Formats: sequence, structure tokens, C-alpha cells
Amino acid sequence: MTAKTAVAVMCMVAGITAIPAARAQAERSVWDGIYTAAQAQRGQALYTKHCASCHRENLEGHGTTPSLAGSEFLARWDGQTVDDLFEKMQESMPADHPGSMSRERNAAILAFILGFNEFPAGAAELRNESEWLAKIRFQAAKSK
Ligand code: HEC
Repeated sequence: MTAKTAVAVMCMVAGITAIPAARAQAERSVWDGIYTAAQAQRGQALYTKHCASCHRENLEGHGTTPSLAGSEFLARWDGQTVDDLFEKMQESMPADHPGSMSRERNAAILAFILGFNEFPAGAAELRNESEWLAKIRFQAAKSK
């Protein structure tokens, strides 16, 4: 076998296995490392400035302001998509200034919230396009 044919055969094999891989990717969840640690760190600074006054530094909420971490928060969003949560932030938060955060900033803040809830960081940043975010499931517990 020449090197060229070997490459062609390898591509064919990869092509076949790439089909289930692509499907798995469409069903990614918050457990798959969907943001970076650096992004979450940027998000923390933004959160402290724009969100912590109501949601508190430790994300536990206060009065009528719900928590953004812990079992109740996770149960509220379980089974929805990351886009559902993102658009909620985009459209109605901060409650005293709705819609004032850019999508890029909200992606960083969401990265921080995910990290705080102990979803793992990964190699690529959380993006801010709806179509991309809508393909990621918010899943409270890791699948076994
Ligand atoms: C002035 C107070 C205030 C500020 C500032 C604020 N929030 Fe909120 N937030 C609320 C209240 C009250 C609710 C509940 C009402 C609602 O869902 O619209 C809420 C709800 C939410 C929810 C939905 C929680 C759930 O599980 O249903 C998210 C997510 C959220 N806020 C994120 C943010 C982010 C991110 C920021 C900063 C960019 C922020 N909030 C700033 C008061 C605030």
C-alpha cells in the first residue's frame, strides 16, 4: 500500500466513524467542558459588578431574587438548553437594567455560573450564538 492509499483508507474509516461522533456532538451537555477557565474568570468580574448586588457574591440569591447555584437552580434548568438560560439572562437581566449586557459578556458570566455549579471547564470558550447554545443540554446530573 502506498502512503497515499493508506491516507485514503484512513480517511474512509474516519468518515464512517465521524457520523456517530457528529451526532454525539449535537447532544452535548454542560458536562462536556463547554467554556474555558479564563472566560469564567472574566465572567466573575462582570458578575461581581452587575449581578452580585441581587444574586449575592455566592450566588445564593436574596429575598425574591433566585439562586444561580445549587440544587434548586439546577432543578429549575434541568432538561432545558443552555440557550434557554442564556436568553433569559440576555433579555431580562440585570433586572434593574434589562438587556444592557452584550452577548459576549453574558457568555462570560454564564461561564462563571457554570463553573460555580461545578460543571467542568474545557478547551474552547462558550460561544454566544443561539444556534450553538441551543445544541447544549443543561443537565443537572452527569449521565452515567
Ligand atoms: C436588581 C436585582 C437583580 C440584578 C442586578 C440581577 N438580577 Fe437576575 N434576577 C433578579 C430577580 C428578581 C429574578 C427573578 C425574576 C425573573 O426571573 O425575572 C432574577 C432572575 C435571574 C435568572 C433566572 C434564575 C432562575 O433560575 O430562574 C438568571 C439566570 C439571572 N437572574 C441572572 C442574572 C445575571 C447574569 C445578572 C447580571 C448580569 C443578574 N441576574 C442581575 C434580580 C436581579
